[in-house]
Amino acid sequence: MELAITLDNRLSEPLHRQLYEELRRAILSCRLKPGERLPSTRALANSLGVSRATVTLGYEQLIAEGYLEAVIGSGTRVCGQLPDDLLRSVPVNQPQTESFALNGSKSCGIKLSAYGEYLDDSKPLEGIDPDLPISFRTGRPALEEFPIAEWRRLLLRHCRTASERLLDYAPEMRGDPQLRAAICSYLGRSRAVRCSVDQIIIINGSQQAIDLVTKLLIERGDTVAVENPGYLGARRAFWAQGAKLAPIPVDENGIVVETLDSKAAAQAKLVYVTPSHQFPTGAMLPLQRRLELLKWAERRGAVIIEDDYDSEFRFGSRPIPALQGLSDGNNVIYVGTFSKVLFPSLRIGYMVVPESLVRVFTRARWIADRQTPTLEQLALADFLNEGHLERHLRRTRTLYDKRRHALIRALTLHFEDRVEVLGENAGLHLMARLQTNFSDEEVVLRAAEVGVGLLSAKIYYLHEARSGEFVFGYGGLSERRISEGIKRLAKALR
Ligand SMILES: Cc1ncc(COP(=O)(O)O)c(C=O)c1O
Repeated sequence: MELAITLDNRLSEPLHRQLYEELRRAILSCRLKPGERLPSTRALANSLGVSRATVTLGYEQLIAEGYLEAVIGSGTRVCGQLPDDLLRSVPVNQPQTESFALNGSKSCGIKLSAYGEYLDDSKPLEGIDPDLPISFRTGRPALEEFPIAEWRRLLLRHCRTASERLLDYAPEMRGDPQLRAAICSYLGRSRAVRCSVDQIIIINGSQQAIDLVTKLLIERGDTVAVENPGYLGARRAFWAQGAKLAPIPVDENGIVVETLDSKAAAQAKLVYVTPSHQFPTGAMLPLQRRLELLKWAERRGAVIIEDDYDSEFRFGSRPIPALQGLSDGNNVIYVGTFSKVLFPSLRIGYMVVPESLVRVFTRARWIADRQTPTLEQLALADFLNEGHLERHLRRTRTLYDKRRHALIRALTLHFEDRVEVLGENAGLHLMARLQTNFSDEEVVLRAAEVGVGLLSAKIYYLHEARSGEFVFGYGGLSERRISEGIKRLAKALR
């Protein structure tokens, strides 16, 4: 019997423990059925290339927990009678078809919704191996620069009051009023967003905003226009809801607005854009195109999601007002986050919604997950009101500017005329077109072999992807590591 099991001896978890987990998962998902016989310890050890003791230890643990039984003379089998708590979730007596048995949760007879079916796709989500020592992953700020002592002081200040207000459900579903007021004035000053405090809803990061907009505005089969290439987090949320995606090309000035009039996008109810720093190309949408986009949305009665995820970091270029502030705001939902300016696990973002949608968004948010934790909201309000955010931004802007220069310098030094750098005027990442003798997949593999993690931009394209484009996040890497990473990459591609 062949068992598809993967053990990785680079992991800190012992091999017998990995084997135990793999087999347990196979039993729970009914890939291994009750009564099914397992290979002998010797045969499995040989096929996995591990010692027999490893397999014996894994089997013994599963026997002790009641997943396997050792039957004298006929080897080791999956128990006919699984432990009680498993019986409740795994209908072992239910007849199972072959396709049932192969499909994870479906094997247990639980019917997923279309949304669940979409998310249950067996392909792993793309990303960079977290163990690679020099990782050009996107969206990671300089965490070592975060003023943690200040943050701790602010958290403690509110903990000391130990008031019931801190512990209870929040009376205001849109989020703490002080924090919303602080965000409102910050957005007015720095992004020319025009709104009242009433229109601001605190959320758990911008991904939640995208999710709520999708749930409230999109029916199965509706068309959503998305930048191509574009942000996967948004695209996945639209797809999972059953939306049809209309890819709109992006050039060096961002989304090509006139394509929104094409047949594919004609019915679009929603368009998702990253105008201040297009993800992943880094293009900045000029004023003229912003106005055209707003006109298009107004003409069509469509809604624009303006994802302003990292526009605080601009280098040299003048800020262009947010789409939201250039219009009466009736067709724009503006989304911002503290994930890049502070740290991602904070999980605090905000959305500015048209007045007419405030009630429904507030209710949807309450139904989704109630609220953002009060303690962090109070500390964050102080962080903004006492000027710590502005100070942190000033410091990190200089730092990222240096890191960005180090990256461009290293790319030019090592790749000379075989590199074209795009979108370097803002944000925490840039895109580079590299001319090499390798496919994108080979470039990523060769990079990983020398300890460098990077992503091909192919994954961000719908349909025909351009090759030779790579995305380099530099926010979380020191200048020294950036130079070393590019040096290693160039050597690996020689
Ligand atoms: C374009 C874009 N939008 C939104 C997000 C999500 O941010 P959050 O952590 O606020 O959910 C990311 C994360 O990297 C991003 O790249």
